[in-house]
Amino acid sequence: MDRTDSRANLAFLTDNLKSRERLGLHLVAGAPADLDRLLALFIPTPEFSCLEDLSRNMRECKRCPLHQGRRKVVFGQGPTSATVMFIGEAPGEKEDEKGLPFVGPAGMLLTRMLAAVGLKREQVYITNIVKCRPPQNRDPLPEEAAACRPFLEAQVRAVQPRVICALGRPAAQSLLGTKAPISALRGNWQTYGQIRLLPLFHPAFLLRQPERKAEAYRDLKALARELGIASAQEARK
Ligand code: URA
Repeated sequence: MDRTDSRANLAFLTDNLKSRERLGLHLVAGAPADLDRLLALFIPTPEFSCLEDLSRNMRECKRCPLHQGRRKVVFGQGPTSATVMFIGEAPGEKEDEKGLPFVGPAGMLLTRMLAAVGLKREQVYITNIVKCRPPQNRDPLPEEAAACRPFLEAQVRAVQPRVICALGRPAAQSLLGTKAPISALRGNWQTYGQIRLLPLFHPAFLLRQPERKAEAYRDLKALARELGIASAQEARK
């Protein structure tokens, strides 16, 4: 089925479901708004030839209600040749203002965490499971993450990182499809498709609980070992 077919099928499905709603025959229990949310998941992702193109096409994205409050879509940043991809949960205030991921206080700590294992920010690809800021920086809802997933998957396919680091509970749980707490997930290697995935504490959490930084550093050393790089401390020995 090509894109024209899938758009025609979506239009047909939408008309059909909307007329049933008008007759009071609800597909999903609840308000008609549920139907709009459900249908949004079937909107084909914009066509793109490279990530810059996809990022440009995404500026008008309305697949989930987060578009209503955003200033900028925060697509991602970094080279498509990156070996490591860091995936956080969602843009915060600074990110929403600048259109770039991890540029606030948590981002500054992330840059220092990378440096601790000999990585420069410019070497890694950084993004989030959702590309628009949730109200009051709440966790992204599962349906918002689902609506944004095709974009994340396009990024993973384009970058083909050797390792993905999931930053914090919402990212780790969403990528791994688990409800396990981050304290149980962090530092334990998993897989995302064929790619090795390491859940890490989120830098914002480490800013709130600096006493957990020693554990975070152990996890970063495991990342450095996997990548075959000496951590800054070991390199100095
Ligand atoms: N926290 C995140 O999870 N992502 C950002 O981009 C910034 C803060």
